Order: sequence, then C-alpha cells, then structure tokens
Amino acid sequence: MLRSLLIALSRRRGLQELATAWPPAQRVARRFVAGESLEQALAVARQLHALGLQTTLNYLGEDVRSPSEALACREAYLASLEALARAGLPSHISIKLTQLGLDLDGDLCYANAEAIVARAAEHGRFVRIDMESSAHTQRTLDLYRRLRVAYRNVGVAIQSYLYRSRADVESLIEQGIANLRLCKGAYAEPPSLAYPEKRDVDASLIRLAALMLQPAARVAGAYVALATHDERIIRWLRAYAYHHEIPSTAYEFQMLYGVRRDLQQRLADEGACTRIYVPYGAHWYPYFMRRLAERPANLIFFAKALLG
Ligand code: FDA
Repeated sequence: MLRSLLIALSRRRGLQELATAWPPAQRVARRFVAGESLEQALAVARQLHALGLQTTLNYLGEDVRSPSEALACREAYLASLEALARAGLPSHISIKLTQLGLDLDGDLCYANAEAIVARAAEHGRFVRIDMESSAHTQRTLDLYRRLRVAYRNVGVAIQSYLYRSRADVESLIEQGIANLRLCKGAYAEPPSLAYPEKRDVDASLIRLAALMLQPAARVAGAYVALATHDERIIRWLRAYAYHHEIPSTAYEFQMLYGVRRDLQQRLADEGACTRIYVPYGAHWYPYFMRRLAERPANLIFFAKALLG
C-alpha cells in the first residue's frame, strides 16, 4: 500500500518542483544522490574507485516532455563521457530511455541513445539501459536489440517481478546479446503483469540468474550484473558460481549509492567485482521516492533528518 502510494507520488510534477527547490529535502536526498553537478559525481566515483569499487554514473531524469529536453540529456551524457575520459575513471554510464525521448518518438530516442553508445564506444566505455515501468519494457528491449546490431558496449536491465522476464531472458540468450543487469524491479505493477509477493520476486531473480549462468548461456556470451542488496541472493550466487566453477568474469554485483555501504565494501574487499550506481543531477525526486518506496523505514529516518 505505502509502496504504491510513494511510487504514485514519485510521478507528481508539482511535488517534484516543491521538493527539489527545498534545501532540507536536497540535503536528505544526498544520502542516495552524489550531488547536482557532474563534478560532484566524479568526486564520488573517484572515492569509490579508491576503495576498490567500480561505478556506473546516471544523469538523473526521466519522462521528458520535449525533444529539446531529451537532447539536453543526451548532451549531459556526452559531457559525462568526456569528463570520465579526462579524469581517467573507468566508470560505466546508465541511461533511461524516457529521458532520451522514448515516449515522444522512438526514432528520436534511438538517435539520442545511439549517439551516447557510439561516443562511449570511442572511449571504451559501457552503457547500461535502465528498465522503467512495464509500459516501456517492449520498446526498451526493441531499442536495445537495434543498438546491439552495431554495438557491443551496451546492455539492458531486466526486472524479476515481471512474469515476461523469463521469456525475455531466454530470447536474449538465444540471440547472443544477454548482457543483463538483473534486478527485482522498482515500479508499481499490477498482479496481471508482475508477481505481487516479494518471495516470488526473489525466487524469480534467482531463477533468472541461474538461467544466465548455464554453460550454454555463457557460451552464447551471457553476462550477469546482479543488482541487489539482498545478502541471501548475493550469497546464493557466490555459492552457485563456486560449485559450478563459473569464472568471476561471467558476473558482477551492483548496488545503489548510499545503500548497504558495508556490504558493498565487504564484497569488494573479498575480490568480487562490485559496481555502484551513482546518480547525480537536479531531477532526483522520482529516483529518491523509489528509494523510499523500497524501504518505507527510510521515511522515519528522513522525517527525523528533515525536522532536525
Ligand atoms: P530488497 O528490497 O529485498 O532489499 C534487501 C535489503 O537491501 C533490505 O533489507 C535493505 O537492507 C536493503 N535495501 C534495499 N533497498 C533499500 C533502500 N532503498 N534503502 C535502504 N536500504 C535498502 N529497478 C528497476 O526497476 N529498473 C532498473 O533499471 C534498476 N536498476 C538498478 C540498478 C542497481 C545497481 C540496483 C542495485 C537496483 C536497481 N533497481 C532497478 C532497483 C531494484 O529493482 C530494487 O528496487 C532495489 O534494488 C531494492 O531491491 P533489493 O534487490 O535490494 O532487495
């Protein structure tokens, strides 16, 4: 209930404008967001790399309403790629397609995404396409498939809460383009499309990872980026990889900036490739609200921080 309410509030433009202009809310959001500027994101990435962690930078934004907004986001990503190259930071980037115009015009979105992926390829960088709500799943996968015809430095995210994900993963493995971030899913979806029970979402995440780690899938180039802070599932993957002699080059772990820093560091110290998703930019409100929805206990923490 509370989760759905917070996700519904995350889409309210009026609230977004109020929250992002309110300094105490900006301060509180900094737990999950590196800052509003690219320089702040680079500083955070530098600190994380110094601790032995990997990073993927995300310029915050989604649901743009005009081609010029989409173009501005594309330019922000191109600037981030140039800055990463200058700084010598081996960071990846993560993009959202509704930020690049997916809801306005599919071809415009493709042109924006392609410009980013092409520039990333020039710099030897990898681009991950985030997965958004189910209204975008098919179009996101179609655009990903189109990009993969010409580029190898791009992958996509898959959400284990969707019933369709198993078939999507199977088909991407078959096509030899299963470079996938597997996550549970952060949007509000109806029971007709997604498992309503958390235990089923968790079990589905394990099944999808196991599917991608099958020998035939690995031969077809499957690569798993397991994006979760769920220690039980992380332990499962490590044990599975150990017992099946799966090389550590077949997978990595991913976590969000500001969530379970202890676990992030522990995994990195144990030698596991651990990549942190580092969001930055002024449009932090929907992202921040999804983080609250994932763990409503955060609400108490943030209420105290706001009042204090
Ligand atoms: P779960 O919700 O079971 O949490 C496990 C534990 O992690 C909790 O007990 C708590 O300790 C901690 N935790 C989790 N979330 C927390 C939070 N917000 N604050 C504090 N502690 C928290 N989703 C999506 O739909 N599309 C996408 O493209 C992505 N991309 C993505 C990238 C990366 C790197 C990550 C880690 C996650 C995503 N997600 C996502 C979000 C994902 O779908 C999911 O909503 C969150 O990761 C929370 O689920 P967990 O798997 O962590 O498990």
